[in-house]
Amino acid sequence: MHGECMSELRTILCPGTFDPVHLGHLDIFERAAGLFDRVIVLVAAVSGKDPLLPLPQRADLVRAAAAHLENVEVDTFEGLLVDYARQEGAAAIAKGLRSVDDFQHEQQMAMMNRSMLPEVDTVLLVTSPNVQYISSSLIREIWTLGGDVSTFVPHPVAEALERMRH
Ligand code: PNS
Repeated sequence: MHGECMSELRTILCPGTFDPVHLGHLDIFERAAGLFDRVIVLVAAVSGKDPLLPLPQRADLVRAAAAHLENVEVDTFEGLLVDYARQEGAAAIAKGLRSVDDFQHEQQMAMMNRSMLPEVDTVLLVTSPNVQYISSSLIREIWTLGGDVSTFVPHPVAEALERMRH
């Protein structure tokens, strides 16, 4: 695609650690893809924590899970989200809101990001009710304790987690 065409596209970033990506995330990607021209799912390197899955695998699994969405790209990043947003000329940042528990942290990050980069707004999408209860940390806990997580994650993620047991 030519540079001048790209600049007219409204881009939204979907940042997260995606350790692993689950059906709640996919719900947000699908809805962001319907609202914006171009979606970049940004898989963040985790600092200070030991992720279950390494960064390249987390990104590969997001790519596999979102393969049906034509206007969704996947990238990895380290550093400040607003720096990436500025570089890409993104219009907005999308986050999912499952409940009031998410709200305080998301509101705080939205306000911090907005004060650093006022032209990029945060769009908080209320998670669809059928996937509202899903969280990566509980998936990791259930998987680590030998449970079946296949109903919470896209098929390629379930397969990868199953392979990791053997
Ligand atoms: O999946 P998560 O853990 O909720 O994702 C959090 C994430 C990666 C979106 C957030 O930690 C982030 O934006 N990190 C990048 C570093 C940054 O810009 N920090 C300032 C946030 S106000």
